[in-house]
Parts: sequence; structure tokens; C-alpha cells
Amino acid sequence: MTTNQKLKSWIDEMVALCQPDSVHWCDGSEEEYNTLAQKLVDSGTFIRLNEGLKPNSYYAKSDPSDVARVEDRTFICSQNKADAGPTNNWMDPKEMKQILTKLFAGSMKGRTMYIIPFSMGPLGSNISKIGVEITDSPYVVCNMKIMTRIGKKVLEQLGDGEFVPCMHSVGYPLIDNQKDVAWPCNNTKYIVHFPEEKSIWSFGSGYGGNALLGKKCFALRIASAIARDQMWLAEHMLIVGITNPQGEKKYIAAAFPSACGKTNLAMLTPSLPGWKVECVGDDIAWMKFGEDGRLYAINPEAGFFGVAPGTSMKTNANAILTLKENSIFTNVALKDNGDVWWEGMTDEKPVHLTSWLGKDWTPDLNENAAHPNARFTTPAKQCPVMDKDWENPAGVPISAILFGGRRASFVPLVYEAFDWQHGVFLGATMSSETTAAAAGKVGEIRRDPFAMLPFCGYNMGDYFKHWIETGKRTEPYKLPKIFYANWFRKDENGKFIWPGYGENIRVLKWILERTEGNNNYIESPIGRIPKTAELDVDGMNISPETLEELFRIDKETGLNEVESIREHFKKFGEKLPKELLDEVNALEERLRKM
Ligand code: OXD
Ligand code: MN
Repeated sequence: MTTNQKLKSWIDEMVALCQPDSVHWCDGSEEEYNTLAQKLVDSGTFIRLNEGLKPNSYYAKSDPSDVARVEDRTFICSQNKADAGPTNNWMDPKEMKQILTKLFAGSMKGRTMYIIPFSMGPLGSNISKIGVEITDSPYVVCNMKIMTRIGKKVLEQLGDGEFVPCMHSVGYPLIDNQKDVAWPCNNTKYIVHFPEEKSIWSFGSGYGGNALLGKKCFALRIASAIARDQMWLAEHMLIVGITNPQGEKKYIAAAFPSACGKTNLAMLTPSLPGWKVECVGDDIAWMKFGEDGRLYAINPEAGFFGVAPGTSMKTNANAILTLKENSIFTNVALKDNGDVWWEGMTDEKPVHLTSWLGKDWTPDLNENAAHPNARFTTPAKQCPVMDKDWENPAGVPISAILFGGRRASFVPLVYEAFDWQHGVFLGATMSSETTAAAAGKVGEIRRDPFAMLPFCGYNMGDYFKHWIETGKRTEPYKLPKIFYANWFRKDENGKFIWPGYGENIRVLKWILERTEGNNNYIESPIGRIPKTAELDVDGMNISPETLEELFRIDKETGLNEVESIREHFKKFGEKLPKELLDEVNALEERLRKM
């Protein structure tokens, strides 16, 4: 299959360890996908959906205990604990290898071992990277086929080159002709990264983020460590192209914590006439400086692994249109007609469903029919607004970077960083808050720096430093401008002030005008905010008072924010770059002068 010595000896070693019944090298063909999907139907993991309503699509429900990423079981095993940092779980790599070796020994008995060569990014791009995942889960193979580029063509591209070994087992060996279950997994789970060796070991879970190792494990945790060493950026960011009515197009990359509508923004249907938003990626961006000094981004993935609940023709029509065929739905609800449903898909609930737990469901039960983290796996190329350059090996040039969070108060709809270093400060202090049940009351603030908290493969203090160093690059390097958005500000009655969704194009328009150097801003203590007349609210039903409220900065709340940022920064101890302390001091000073 391959002449790659490192690959051959790794496979031999893993076959000897895991003792599978057979070994299958994935060629990535449609026939292979269909055969494996049929195998999953036969074993009860997949249900084929109604061919007339959802052609070539499948439904899976997981074990109720295996429904999400397991952050407390996720480890960064660097040689030194300090290199994993205060926000990651750590164990000594030798000790961890011993534990894993025991767990993987015989773990594939009675099963087939699948070998999936995969490329993160378009084949042949100098930003792309190759991995090989070993797994005993045909569900993982089918999902990897949609989410990445897999098979023979990747092996050819790999040749004798470097790859990231990604070892996965559901940890459910079939011994003595034991009968299989529909969703094999193990109560013991380990999602482990060795950033120096650049390898991944995942045991016990069949769920997406823990088992599709190209995504969070490789494209973020391992790649972020590689990117630091090689001076590029591996980020938890969507990428979109925005075209104005004059036909001028620019690309932006954006990071938001979960539940802030990242996939919606990636496929936005603009409310402003003549504007177009096209999608390059919805979750991960790998960015490198090109020869012209600009920052170029690729989407390392080839599919979307999106949260289904809340996705509808109203909130994200392009996602719904993407899902029309060739998709896998996990932990959603099944309709009696063999289609799928989830909370928020339609205003009216179906009269009867089979819930993600496999139980009869009727609306009067007052419980979720789909799991809140139910997912779709769907090919990006089916999205009606995919950008023509989404697979361009050279990537797309990034003009602006947008950070954001969910904040009911204080943080304005949009503002621009004064400079790169201030922008890094905005990324490092990204925050979201939960709203308490009582209207208008705000809950606890959670900091999720760069939306990378669970995904940074090394010490987050060093990660901040890497971002600061990136900004010290001078000519010919051209740095994108950095912005911060908050679609979620509320009024005193607890109502959202900004309608969001398609109207967010108005914010993107202001951002693009800033990248042209338009003088459309005023200075505020926290950054540059739009001159109110310069935010295009034409045709919107929004009063001047409301607009003012969207950008109001309250001194007292600001000073509390400064305290909360200081607390957050304490976690990083010595590793916190001095530049970020300078930024928080400067922010306090500007606020006190208000
Ligand atoms: C995801 C996540 O699944 O960020 O994309 O959790
Ligand atoms: Mn994500």
C-alpha cells in the first residue's frame, strides 16, 4: 500500500498491539463509503433515511454517555508540565504511554482496523498537512470521508513524507464471539496529544470531537504547537469572503466561543441589498504569510460538523440547504417519515418522533427530542454559498480578524483594536456570559481566549506571546486589522437590542470600510467604535437612542471588567506576556479619564 517506512512500521506495531481480526486500508472511494454505511446499517448504528427526502443520508444515535467532547479526559502530554500550561490537563508522556499501551492492547479483537490517510487542507497546498488515523470504528471512517480528504490520493501525496499518527479505538473488543452493540464505546476515555512527538491517541469514545482526530485534535491542538514553532497560525476561526455592491471582495477570519452563531455567520444571508457573503470555512483556519506579505488562510476541513438544534431556514438557510443529501445526522430526532428533526428546525413541532434516546416522543412530554449537542456531518461543497476559492491551495488573503463573545452589557456591537497588540489583548480576554433566568440579570462571565481554551496544544501564555510576536513582523508583512463584535447586548428589560443574523452584514460592512482606512470611527476608551452615522442602519427599525445604547460604555462596569481581566490573567503567572499587562493598565487609565 505504501513505501513510507515510518507508516509501515507504525501500522505493524499497532496491529501487534491492538490485535484486530483484519486490516483495511481506506481508498476513499464512494463504493467503500457505501459498503461501510451498509455495514453500519446492518449493525444497527445507522438508519438509512428516506431516500426521497434525504438521499444517501444516515441517522445515528450514540450511547447516551458518549455525546460530547470530554475536556476533563483530554490531555496535553508535553515533556514538561509547564509547556501544557494552566488551562490543559497534563501527564508525563512516559506514564501516559504506559496507560494507553495497556488500554489499546487487544482493544480491536473481533474488529477490523481501518487505516485512513487524510489531508487537512487541499492536496498539494503548502499550508496543508497529512495525518493517518487508525480506527476500529466504521462510523469514524464515514465521518472522516466527509470532513477531510481521505484515501489513495493522500497516500500518493504523502510518499515518504511526514504525517501525524492518530490512533483511535472505541475500546470495545469483541471477545469469544460476543455480540456487538450499536454504539460501542468505553467508560474509560482518554483523548491524548503528544505535541513534541506530534501524535494523538484517543480511546473509549466514538463521538465526533473525540474520534474524528483530524478536527480538534490535529487541526487545532497539534497544529497550534506546530504553528508556534514555524511562525504561522492554527486557529478556531471561520473564514468568509464578503463582496460589496461594487463587486469588491475581502476575506475575514473570526473566532467566537461556542453558542455565538459561528456557523450562521460563516453562511450568512445578508440583509443589505447587493452584498454577498461566501463561505470558506466554519470552524478552523490555518493561516500563513504569503510572499506578498499578506496573511493567507485555508480551511483544513472538507465538511461541516455542526450543531443541529437551532438550525432552521430562518437562522441558517444555507446550512439547511447543504444538508439536503449525502449527510450523517447524529443524536437528532427521527421523524415517522424517515426524515430528521431537531429543536428549532420548525416553529411547529411534529406530533410524533423517535427521540435521540430511541423513545417515543410527543410535544406534551416537554423534553428535548434531539440532544442539544446533536450534530450533522455534511460535505462543504454542497453549501450553496461556498466561495469559489475555498479549496484554493494558496488560501485566501485575510483583511480583518474578528473576535467576539456573548455579553448582555458593556461590550459594544462592534469596535476596532487600536493596533495589533491591543487586538491580541481583545483575543486574550474574549468572554461570554450566561443570562440568569431573571430578565436583565446577567450571569457569570467565562473567559475563552481566542475561543481556543479547550483547543490550544501548549501553554496559553506562550500562545499569547506567539500572537504578539506575529504582530512584530514588519515590512513586507501586512497585518490584518483586528475587531471585536457582540451581537448579544440586551436592554434593561433583558431583550436583545440587535436583531443579529442577516443584519450582521451592517457590522461587516463597517469593518470592511475600516480596512480601507475610512475615517468612519471615533475613539472610545475600549477601542474605535463607529461614528453612529457611519453604521448603515438604512431600512432598519432602530431608534437613535437604541443605537446609542449599543455603543454606550459605562465607566463603572468598565472598571469592574478591568478587575475581572486582571483575575483572568493571574492564571498565566510568569508566562503572561508583559504586553498584555501593559494593555490592561492602559485600558484602566483610559477608563479612569472618562
Ligand atoms: C465544535 C466545537 O464542535 O467548537 O466545533 O466544540
Ligand atoms: Mn469549533
